[in-house]
Amino acid sequence: MNGKNLMRIGILTGGGDCPGLNAVIRAVAKPAMNEYGATVIGIEDGFEGLVEDRMHELSNREVSGIINLGGTILGTSNKGDPWHYPTEGPDGKTVIVDASARAIKNYKRWGLDAMIAIGGEGTMHISHKLAQYGLNIVGVPKTIDNDLDGTDVTFGYDSAVGVATEAIDRLHTTASSHHRIMVIEVMGRYAGWIALGAGLAGGADIILIPEIPFNWEALFRKVIERSTHGKRFSIVCVAEGCKCPDGSEVVQELDEKRTDAKRLGGIGEVIADEISRGTELETRVTVLGHLQRGGSPSASDRILATNFGALAVQLCAEGKFGQMVALRGDQYVGMPISDCIAKLKTVPHDHRWVQAAKAVGTSFGDE
Ligand code: F6P
Repeated sequence: MNGKNLMRIGILTGGGDCPGLNAVIRAVAKPAMNEYGATVIGIEDGFEGLVEDRMHELSNREVSGIINLGGTILGTSNKGDPWHYPTEGPDGKTVIVDASARAIKNYKRWGLDAMIAIGGEGTMHISHKLAQYGLNIVGVPKTIDNDLDGTDVTFGYDSAVGVATEAIDRLHTTASSHHRIMVIEVMGRYAGWIALGAGLAGGADIILIPEIPFNWEALFRKVIERSTHGKRFSIVCVAEGCKCPDGSEVVQELDEKRTDAKRLGGIGEVIADEISRGTELETRVTVLGHLQRGGSPSASDRILATNFGALAVQLCAEGKFGQMVALRGDQYVGMPISDCIAKLKTVPHDHRWVQAAKAVGTSFGDE
C-alpha cells in the first residue's frame, strides 16, 4: 500500500491511560487527514470499541488543541482483550469469551485499511495476534511503566517520573522536620523503572525494585546508619512489584476480567510496618497511585508522542504493518511487534542508573 491507498485509518488507545496519548492521536490524525486525505476512525475504549462496534469518524476539531491534555479523548480499557473478553452470561455472572471474530468483523465492516494501536505490552500482544489474522496494524508504545521492549523509552514514563519525583521532594521536607522514615510506593508493575528514575531524581536513600531482591537486615542497617550519622530521616522509594524477602507478592485484587488478573499494591505498607518494627523509628507511607498517570504530559513526552504518531502514519502509508514505532538511540524506527513482546524490558542489575544511585550512597536493600 502507498499513501494514495490509505483511505481509512482506525486508531485506538488500549490499557491504562497515561499522559501523551492525546498528543499521539493528534500527531496521527493531522497528517493522516491533511497530508494523505485519509479518514480517521476513532475506536472508543480500546479493543472494547472494536469488539462492540463503538467508533466514530474523528474531526479536525476533535484532534486540535489536545497536545497538552492528559488521558485520552478516545477512552481506554484494560478489560477489552478480544481473546479474553468479559461478557454477561445467562445467569448474570461474568464469563470470559473469545470475541476476536467480532473485532475482526468490525475492522472489516468499517473498511479500515490500517489500524494504529497505542498501548503497552498487553495492547501489543493483542495487536500481534490481530495482525496474524490479516489486520494491518501499527503499534505505538505507551506506558508509564517503561517496560516495553524494542524501544529505549515509552511515552508516559517521563511524565510519571516527574510526578513521583515531585512527591519525593515534598516528602523530604516533612520527613526531615519530623525525623521520620517515609516510604513512597510507586507504580511500574513488574519493572522498577519508575522507582529507579524517581528515586534517583528525588535523591531517595533507599530504592527497592523488583529486579533487585532486598533483605530486611540491609534495609534496617541503612536506615539506622543514617540515623546514627545525624540524618534522622530516610526516604524509601519502593516499586509496587517488589516481592518481600520471603518471595511473597503483595496483591491488592485479582480481577479475572483482565488478561493479567493481578492488581498490585500494598508493598509500601508492609515495608513501613517492618521498618518501624525492626528499627523502632517512626514511619509513614504514601501510595502515589493514579496521580502518576494523570495530568499533562511533560515536554519530553509530547515530543516523543508526536514523533511516534507521525512515524506510525508514515509506516501505514508505506504499507509497513505488524510493526511498532520505537526510539532507538536518536533514531525513530519501526520494529517488528513480535520482537517487542518477546520479553518485558526490566531494569538490568548493572544499569548505569543503578550504578549512579549506588555511587551517591543509595541502598537497594541488597547489601
Ligand atoms: O501499566 C500501568 C499501570 O499504571 C501499572 O503501573 C499499574 O500496576 C496498573 O497500571 C494499575 O492499573 P489500574 O489502573 O487498572 O489500577
